[in-house]
Amino acid sequence: MKVTIIGAGNVGASCASLLAEKDIVNEIVLLDIRDKFAEGKSLDISQMFPIIGSNTHIIGKTNDYSKSKNSEVIIITCGIPRKPGMSRDDLVNTNAKIIHSVTKESIHFSPKAKFIIVSNPLDVMSYVTYLTAKVDSSRVIGMAGILDSARYRYFLSEELNCSPHDIQTLLLGGHGDTMVPLYRYTSISGIPIMEFISKEKNQIIIEKTKKGGEQIINLLGTSAWMAPSASVAQMVEAIIKDSKRILSCSVFLKGEYDLKDVYLGVPVMLGKSGIEKIIELKLNQEEKNLLKKSANHVKNMIKKLENFH
Ligand code: NAI
Ligand code: 2OP
Repeated sequence: MKVTIIGAGNVGASCASLLAEKDIVNEIVLLDIRDKFAEGKSLDISQMFPIIGSNTHIIGKTNDYSKSKNSEVIIITCGIPRKPGMSRDDLVNTNAKIIHSVTKESIHFSPKAKFIIVSNPLDVMSYVTYLTAKVDSSRVIGMAGILDSARYRYFLSEELNCSPHDIQTLLLGGHGDTMVPLYRYTSISGIPIMEFISKEKNQIIIEKTKKGGEQIINLLGTSAWMAPSASVAQMVEAIIKDSKRILSCSVFLKGEYDLKDVYLGVPVMLGKSGIEKIIELKLNQEEKNLLKKSANHVKNMIKKLENFH
């Protein structure tokens, strides 16, 4: 089982390290455009293996896509991250060109791969990979919902003084301020969340979740990578182990939720084929409106895409 990670920066390197720690893939290939950077990162990660007991083989290469040949999963984390004061949308055209070129290189060597996209603006970059790779949309999946849900779960656990692991939730929509957390589908060990917190107080936590990424940028001067890479590792594990997990991911909609031609976060089943099912929830009018607004935001960003070919 081979996984290639494109971009050996904060998210990419951390993702390689988490996957190695899980010991679920035989080979990880780390690629980056920065001279010798992926080589250095992979060496450092490899030297953890005697301590953590991983049998993963990891190699790093500067821009040599032949090394990624026949990867089962390709994770795209390259491009530029946000700096304080920037929105995810500000990255759109710079990152689109990068994502287009790395997708083209990697699909050539791994025509059967599933793609997990991380680069921002997430929903648009997933769309760029889908257009470039020209594969079934079940094989191009954006990572955002798991991270946004994790932030929501963490903030809720802090408020309620309970284990974040016991909180289940679902989050729809684009990765950004228009995300749509679902209060109705949130529970603690199966107990509906409304038994623990009022809708009004929950709304404060939702607003905090929406600003979760920005909060970290303002503290660190660059965007988060630990929780994002844990989210990616969870997706890789679900695909590799064919575990049919139901997770919120950004996927291409073809009429589901009355939306089409857009990548957006919805609950899906993840297994060895990538997205094995898109789960359609019966949303109420308020939730439908929020989702539509989020889809329009992503569609407007797609319109801003300059020719990236
Ligand atoms: P980073 O700057 O630490 O790493 C990016 C890496 O991409 C750098 O090492 C750079 O040399 C490399 N790179 C740039 N152009 C390349 C190319 N053409 N080919 C190969 N490598 C190339 O950034 P970080 O923090 O790892 O973030 C990466 C991306 O992921 C950003 O766009 C960021 O906004 C996004 N992100 C998305 C999240 C999500 O929830 N979807 C969460 C966290 C980050
Ligand atoms: C985040 O939400 C930067 O999109 C990234 O942390």
